[in-house]
Formats: sequence, structure tokens, C-alpha cells
Amino acid sequence: MTLIKIPPSWQLPESQVTPEAVFLNRRRFLQGAIGLAATTLPLTACSTPDSTTNKEAAYQNLIKNPNFVDVGRPVTAEHLTSTYNNFYEFGTGKSVWRAAQALPLDNWKIEVTGLVSNPRTYDLDDINRKFPIEERIYRFRCVEAWAMVIPWVGFPMRLLVQDVQPTSAAKFVRFTSFYDPKITKGGSLLGSRPWPYTESLRVEEMNNELAFFATGIHGKPLPKQNGAPLRMVIPWKYGFKGAKSIVKIEFLPTQPATFWNTINANEYDFEANVNPFQPHPRWSQATERIVSDAPSLLWETRQTLPFNGYAEYVANLYT
Ligand code: MTE
Repeated sequence: MTLIKIPPSWQLPESQVTPEAVFLNRRRFLQGAIGLAATTLPLTACSTPDSTTNKEAAYQNLIKNPNFVDVGRPVTAEHLTSTYNNFYEFGTGKSVWRAAQALPLDNWKIEVTGLVSNPRTYDLDDINRKFPIEERIYRFRCVEAWAMVIPWVGFPMRLLVQDVQPTSAAKFVRFTSFYDPKITKGGSLLGSRPWPYTESLRVEEMNNELAFFATGIHGKPLPKQNGAPLRMVIPWKYGFKGAKSIVKIEFLPTQPATFWNTINANEYDFEANVNPFQPHPRWSQATERIVSDAPSLLWETRQTLPFNGYAEYVANLYT
């Protein structure tokens, strides 16, 4: 039995669709995401720009990558991307966005280790300083055949690869999500599962132009339910490959076990490229349904595109 569920219908109570209830206010997100104190001093001629002001400025003058501004479909509304979520560490229902507010972002660290010449443990200031952010609008396709269009903010994964310099023995990369059963209480509701949530790519996939670390969405820092402070975005693969709230990245010589693939390799294959011609064992992947405010039965249906429409970027990885 799969754990990825399509909810019975898309009729959110009014209380759940108020975006500001989710997003609080922008200032609190900025501070939460970088774990700093409550006041941000204005930049003066004599002050050294800190990463808070750098980050605010980066969001105010957000660079929109011209290669990824139009996917031929409207961008999904913010109140949908921020409430229609999967984050099984915090529960299985579609109200998981509420439970995910328990995610603690203070003093967040991301350890990069394994077969690299330059192992690093980044804090969020390091991430903000080192990796300039940009906006990219990508199609998003869940293995359960629903789809969105999401304006991510973040940086290409290859910049981090360049920073840590994998050795020639590194072939795979494992990404591990935050997990603490005292906080991620929803995980235990699922019974015995191979926590923490992990995902993996080949090093060449991580170096592909499309592979992206998101730190923001809709022009603002990522809400917790979308995987703050940093998550994977791999637009040519099914959504489960995009691990949220990353705490560890390891460069490895061989293919590691991953969360869904360990649970059911037949239903969640390691590669998980979006493929209309390869049905899921229990449903077709030929079409997808676009998440909208309408009841789910009325969602618009579209043809699924090979590699989710990104074949020109990635097909060469799979010859
Ligand atoms: N990452 C973690 N750590 N835990 C999860 O449950 N769910 C995955 C993926 N990343 C998941 C995760 C699945 S199944 C999907 S479809 C996407 O996150 C959903 O991302 P969204 O909630 O931002 O739309």
C-alpha cells in the first residue's frame, strides 16, 4: 500500500486557504530561516553587509533566470503550494502544513561529507553568502499524477558540487532530511519506516543545469512545509525525489538505499524520471491533473511529458 495519497477532494476549509496564516509575515520568515535575532539594522556606508541584509536585498532584486520563466502553464497559486503538501515526518493528511511549523530552523547546519576534497559544514549564513539566488519557474510532477508549476528561488546544485570538489571515486550523492522523532511526530504514525527520509542522485544528475537547491518559493524564503531551509528540486523526476529540509549530503561510491525505494522498489524506482510510457504498477502515468482551487475531480487533465518536458536538458544522461 502506498503512503503517497491523493486526498479525497480538494475542498479546503476557509481557515486553511488564507495564505497569510501560513506565511505569517515576510520578516519572521527571513529571521526564522537564518536563525538571527529580531532586528535587522539598515545598511549604512560604514557597516559591513551581513548575510541578513544580503539576503533581503537578493529577494528584493530577485534575478529571474530567463531560461526558466515560462513553462506554458500558469504558476500555481501560493495558497495551493503552501497547503497542498507531502511531508510524512509530520503526518499523512493534507493539513500537514500546520504540523510542519514544529520544524526547528535555529542553528541549522548542512554537513557535506564523503568522497570530497573539501568537506564542509555550512550554516545558513554560509549558504546565503556563497550561493547567489535566482528564481526559476519549473513544472512539478508528483508520482501520484498531480502537477503544479512552482516559482522556486535558490541556486543550482552544481555550485555546491564545485565548492566541495568530489573525488573521481564519487558516483552517487545521498541527501538526508531532518529527523527527530520528538519533533517529527508524524513519522511514527506510519509504523516502521526507514527514517530519516533520504534521496539520492548520480553525481552527473546533480551537476545537470536543472538540478536545484530551493531556499525560497514565490519570491520569499521557503515555508517550513515546503522544506525549509533548503530542499532538492529535480524537475524531470517525480516529486518524491526532492527531499526536504536537508541536513546532510554525502558523496558515495555506490548507489545508496533511499526512503521510498526501500519501502517499495517496484512502485518507486531509484531513477524515477517522469515517463508517460511507464505506468506506475497501480495507475497510468500518461496524463496528469493540475492542482487548482476546484474539487479534485474537476482538475484539468493534461498529457504527461517525457522527463516532465525537460528532455532537451536531461535525455543525454540516460542514453
Ligand atoms: N521530503 C521529506 N523529507 N519528506 C516527505 O514526506 N515528500 C516528497 C517530497 N519530499 C517528502 C519530501 C513528496 S512525495 C513530494 S510529492 C514532495 O516532497 C512534495 O513537496 P511539496 O509539499 O513542497 O509540494
